[in-house]
Amino acid sequence: MLIDARIIGTGSYLPKRVLDNHELAEMVDTSDDWIFSRSGIRQRHIAAPDEFTCDLALQAAERALESAQRNPEDIDLVIVATTTADQVFPSTACLLQERLGIRGGPAFDVQAVCAGFVYALDVAHRYIQTGGSKCALVIGAETFSRILNWKDRSTCVLFGDGAGAMVIEASDSPGIISSHLHADGAYKDLLCVPTGISTAYDQVLQREAFTEMKGKEVFRWAVSALGDAVVEALEANNLTEKDIDWLVPHQANIRIIQAIARRVDMSLDKVVVTIERHGNTSAASVPLAFDEAVRDGRIRRGQNIIFEAFGGGFAWGSMLVKY
Ligand code: UT7
Repeated sequence: MLIDARIIGTGSYLPKRVLDNHELAEMVDTSDDWIFSRSGIRQRHIAAPDEFTCDLALQAAERALESAQRNPEDIDLVIVATTTADQVFPSTACLLQERLGIRGGPAFDVQAVCAGFVYALDVAHRYIQTGGSKCALVIGAETFSRILNWKDRSTCVLFGDGAGAMVIEASDSPGIISSHLHADGAYKDLLCVPTGISTAYDQVLQREAFTEMKGKEVFRWAVSALGDAVVEALEANNLTEKDIDWLVPHQANIRIIQAIARRVDMSLDKVVVTIERHGNTSAASVPLAFDEAVRDGRIRRGQNIIFEAFGGGFAWGSMLVKY
């Protein structure tokens, strides 16, 4: 018999430094008007030079543990979704485990770029379902600003740093209901950092490992794949959009979010949108948005929520959750 899992606590963290579009326009040839009209972004948070992904993850994790009323010793599984790990190894999850004073249970990173959090939550859910974990900490954390070319206006205006966390626990009633994950590596070149440890470590050391994106193609693909993934989550559970209280989408572009809402006939009033203030925080974007809406009282216990995310790989997916 599979064991159900519920989200029992959430937390998030944004670095203090805010970089708004006006300041960016002094760095590259762009404008607040262009960025806002094309993406919906007004500002993003940027980690301090001595602030790393694990620092962001730690803050979000502590807040999630506090809201779940659980102690670090209750946690028997730590998964961090990140594209921007502190070190080549150990994993950011192991670094975080040590900082939280957790010992012994499995801890590992998941790399699915912007879809990383839904992948990580799916893995944690499966651990709990099969009795491998009773209480898991799942985090999306990124210092994406470190892999941006701050001279490339087509990418540097879109991303930001942040972290979001959830505590997931075995439960008598269903919380995480279904997940619908996909990937297609045939599109690896449309959104990537083309260099890395094994191929060109010298470029990484020289800080020349940057995000590259064919924005228009990624946009078209994201709209179509995410729309399909949300429909898949509804159909798999015999639900319609009327049964869904909130859509918590990946925050890549407000026009993508609007297109998905139109495709499934959901009012934007039922969509959690943070992109204006956060930009695209990659693996952190869904748990950050979810935590905000839980804390401000929009998302309440018993509601049906759909998460969706899309990013480099391509890797994408959706999940249906009863909060
Ligand atoms: O999280 C992973 C998923 N990521 C995404 O889903 C992102 C998907 N893509 C997008 O969000 C959009 O494609 C962008 C926001 C990146 C771009 O919007 P667009 O409407 O597709 O613009 P475009 O690429 O067609 O660019 C239009 C023009 C170009 O000039 P020309 O060639 O038409 O003269 C660009 O050079 O805008 C120019 N441009 C800029 N101008 C001012 C590109 N970036 C900027 C900029 N400021 N920052």
